[in-house]
Formats: sequence, structure tokens, C-alpha cells
Amino acid sequence: APLVCTTVAQLREEVAARVAAGAASVGLLPTMGALHRGHLEIARRTRAENDLAVVSVFVNPLQFGPGEDFESYPRRLDDDVALLAEEGVDLVFAPSVEEMYPDGTPVVSVTSGAAGAMLEGATRPGHFDGALTVVNKLFTIVAPGPATPFRAYFGEKDAQQLLLMQRMVRDFDHRVEIRPVPIVRSERGLALSSRNQYLSAEQAEHALVLHSTLVALAAGELTLEQARRRVDAEPDVSLDYLVTVDPATLTVQEPRPGALALVAAWVGPTRLIDNMRIPA
Ligand code: PAJ
Repeated sequence: APLVCTTVAQLREEVAARVAAGAASVGLLPTMGALHRGHLEIARRTRAENDLAVVSVFVNPLQFGPGEDFESYPRRLDDDVALLAEEGVDLVFAPSVEEMYPDGTPVVSVTSGAAGAMLEGATRPGHFDGALTVVNKLFTIVAPGPATPFRAYFGEKDAQQLLLMQRMVRDFDHRVEIRPVPIVRSERGLALSSRNQYLSAEQAEHALVLHSTLVALAAGELTLEQARRRVDAEPDVSLDYLVTVDPATLTVQEPRPGALALVAAWVGPTRLIDNMRIPA
């Protein structure tokens, strides 16, 4: 079973000790827990590609807006640790809010500017600043030192988050390599998410429209406008945005080969996102 560290000092000591004992590379998977098959797929890769596999489980209050689900976000650390044990993960970092933010809201934090204010950021102001701030701390806490390759794993499901993490690594010269992991879906195509458990059985059916519409759009069977109408026409589904963007910058572009289609919608009260590349 993995060793569960709850303090920054303890995690730093463990990483240092294991690197000193011969671990030649370190992999980090940041999560908010309530782990599903998507997370576990990434944990498997983190395990396979590194000598030391670290998973953080922390529901980060900084990235939740007022009225969002910080309080009700599912927390089940014991189940998560048991699942990570099956994947052979070495260390779990599960700090308290007080451990991560001993002074309350940090005085100095990461800001994402225009790239974090569009798309998800337009509906969730401050969300990416919060996610970047906590991951910035995680990179600093876990970083094993110059002689040891350090990799961090992020899912392509959160395309804007992944891009912003890559930007932060460049802008702050973090000594870490970001490794993206493809979206893991249910058998019927729904992108797995810890928030899917908020959906009723009927809502989970309606939520399939996100994936099926992306498939039809990527296949050239629908125009962007038809795709938007298809999502919005689904019962209990309300479209926030469906756009095609340049995957390198997330600036809007025509739905041409190589473009990335991004969708966000509410299914009942639950906000879901998904995306798909238009094949080249
Ligand atoms: P969380 O939503 O727990 O997701 C942790 C990681 O798992 C993210 O990189 C996310 O993109 C990835 N992931 C989730 N569902 C996935 C799926 N179906 N397929 C592939 N990857 C998937 O994202 C966060 O937590 C937080 O913002 C965090 C980065 C931990 C910072 O607090």
C-alpha cells in the first residue's frame, strides 16, 4: 500500500529519501480524489514510467467559486488509497487545507491572465488561478532535484487546464515535464468525471449528447451551428459553449482538420466538459 503523507515536510523527506535510495525518476499525478477509471489510467502510466509514483489527493478550495461544489465535492480518501494501492503507487499526498494554506488565502499566487479568463474561465472566474496556484506548490514540494527526471501527468479531458499547466512550466521554468493523457470514457462515450456521480440515470443518458455531438462534428457531419443546436435541444441539457480552437493557443478557429472542439454544458445543475480533435 502507498505511504500516505499529510504534511509538506513529510512528503519532501520521503521523496528525498527514496531518491537517495536509488529512485531514478519521479512521477506526479495531481488529483482532487473521488478517483475513477480515468484517474487510475493516469496512475498506471505514472507508475509505469517512473521509479517513484506520487499521487496527490486534495480538494483545493482556491479553484472553487462561490456557489460551486467545494463543500459537497466527494471525499473518500480511504477508497482512493485502496485503489492507488492496486496500481502500485508509492506515495499519496493528502494534506489538509490548513497545511496547504496556513495563512488562509495566499498573498502571492499564480494568475493566468487572458488564457484563463476565456472558455471555462468565463463561467468560472478564478478557477484556473486556483488550480495553477496549487499545482505550482505541488511542483515545488515534489521536485526531486536536478539529477532526477520529474514528470507530471494531466488528462486531456481538461484541455484548457492542461494548456495552462504547460504555460506555467515555461513561464516559471519549473523543472518538470508535463505528460498529457488521453480522455478515458464510459463504454457509451461519456467522459469520466468525479462529477458524473451527481447525475441521475436519466441525466447520464442525456449527457451522452456531448460526446455523440463531438463525434458527428469531428466527422464533418454537422456544422458548428447544428452541433450547438443538437446539444441544446437535448432534454435537461443547457449549452454553455461549443467552439473549435487552435489546440496550441485555444484561440477560436474554423472547424478544420487539426482543430480542437471544446464543449461545456450543464446537465441539470451539473456542469460537464468534453473535447475532441478533428482528425487531420
Ligand atoms: P481532478 O478533476 O481530480 O482531475 C485530476 C486529473 O485527472 C486531471 O489532470 C484531469 O484532467 C484528469 N482526468 C479526469 N478525468 C479524466 C478522464 N475521463 N480522462 C482523462 N483524464 C481525466 O483536475 C483536477 O483534479 C484539479 O484541477 C487539479 C489539477 C488536481 C488541481 O487541483
